[in-house]
Amino acid sequence: MTHLISPSLLSADFGNLQRDIEMINNSEADWFHLDIMDGMFVPNISYGFPIIQLVKKHAKKPLDVHLMIVDPDRYIDDFHKAGADILTVHYEACNHLHRTIQKIKSLGMKAGVSLNPHTPVHLLKDIIADVDLVLIMSVNPGYGGQKFIPNAIEKIKELKQLISDKKSNAIIEIDGGVDNTNAKTIIDAGCDALVAGSYVFKSKNQLETIKGLKNLEF
Ligand code: DX5
Ligand code: ZN
Repeated sequence: MTHLISPSLLSADFGNLQRDIEMINNSEADWFHLDIMDGMFVPNISYGFPIIQLVKKHAKKPLDVHLMIVDPDRYIDDFHKAGADILTVHYEACNHLHRTIQKIKSLGMKAGVSLNPHTPVHLLKDIIADVDLVLIMSVNPGYGGQKFIPNAIEKIKELKQLISDKKSNAIIEIDGGVDNTNAKTIIDAGCDALVAGSYVFKSKNQLETIKGLKNLEF
């Protein structure tokens, strides 16, 4: 499969959100990446259900929802009702990850687990067969526009091996600091999906920027 592109709305213009949603609808992007931050798991607070519902109303592509919140079990039903298609929780935020993953899947959503930069891939050994997606953080979560942490490349390779060893169907997504300087290296390492926020929304021609990421032509 060709790799997927999931532009992060965190860097969108919230005064013109519908315009930015339509831009993604009309682009070569595959998903909408929505970053939910609670001011506890990460220092920042982003947005909540009214925004997700608005995106769902206009989006013609799946919503890839990345929860950076403590104890996400409290809200799984609500994110489902708001329109999440893929729901990713942080490994570091779950006491009973297996139960959380089963709950997400029981509602018909794809279940993802995300690893912070300090969290080793091998900790997924006993859950990898159950998850649909692993989101490798290539920045410390909380803000857009940070610098890519190169160690993420090694983590992708290690994860690819673990997925194969365990005969998992999980796909690998990367999030943080993705741009034209590293996208090809990331895909060559075995990654399946690229999240990009500031690189897309701060560019002059957003459609062309997404096209570049999709076709790895810069
Ligand atoms: C960071 C978020 C990212 C963020 C990426 O905590 O999870 O999705 O929007 O932004 P960029 O691509 O600007 O690093
Ligand atoms: Zn994210």
